[in-house]
Amino acid sequence: MAEFGVQAEKRRRNEGIVINDEWPGYSLDLFSYPAHYSGDLDCVIVPHGVIMDRTERLARNIMDDLGDHDIVVLCVLKGGYQFCADLVDRIKVLSCNSNQTIPMRVHFIRLKSYLNDQSTEDLHIVGADDLSFLAGKNVLIVEGIVGTGKTMETLLKHVEAFRPKMIKVAGLLVKRVQNRSTCVPDFVGFEIPNRFVVGYALDYNEYFRDLNHICVISESGKKKYKI
Ligand code: IMP
Repeated sequence: MAEFGVQAEKRRRNEGIVINDEWPGYSLDLFSYPAHYSGDLDCVIVPHGVIMDRTERLARNIMDDLGDHDIVVLCVLKGGYQFCADLVDRIKVLSCNSNQTIPMRVHFIRLKSYLNDQSTEDLHIVGADDLSFLAGKNVLIVEGIVGTGKTMETLLKHVEAFRPKMIKVAGLLVKRVQNRSTCVPDFVGFEIPNRFVVGYALDYNEYFRDLNHICVISESGKKKYKI
């Protein structure tokens, strides 16, 4: 019974902070952001400082669950690069300042599945390296955002083929979408409404990666950067 309680608590803390559909977000006027995106955004949905605080806690949860195992961090480019860099940074700090330590290797994989704000069936693993070194390893996939979950499902199948010992997934954002695949990250930063978000390395046609906060793109922003 006690064990059940501990497991349930672990699951809850790894499910992420829930941002409700009704929440309007913060006005952009309350924060600083690059002037070149003025008019292109509706609101700030997760401020940079909150991302950093949540990432710090996720790093601890990952240490608690995986501590003392060697891990290979597989960073999903390009949208996951900032989250991955900050998460690895926090795990490094914990490894230096606590009794627990995780020896880490970091590897990168690049995926592309979105055109404008629409997911395409056509998922590309760009410049896929030989991942055979993952055999027998503990792998932590780090992704910026999970929408329908199709991308993660495809990536998991791809990685599983290299026979790692264990695969865990850390996703900064998970969208509440209908018909989401059953594929949900083991460690979630925030569960957010089904709106197109940008910033903190998440892009719309390669724009907005140079924005610190996670923001909802405006309709005029979508039109301006549409291809
Ligand atoms: P999924 O296959 O629908 O889960 O989409 C996952 C991928 O789509 C992510 O790796 C992102 O590259 C991209 N994506 C999904 N939603 C968003 C968003 O709101 N902003 C930016 N990229 C997104």
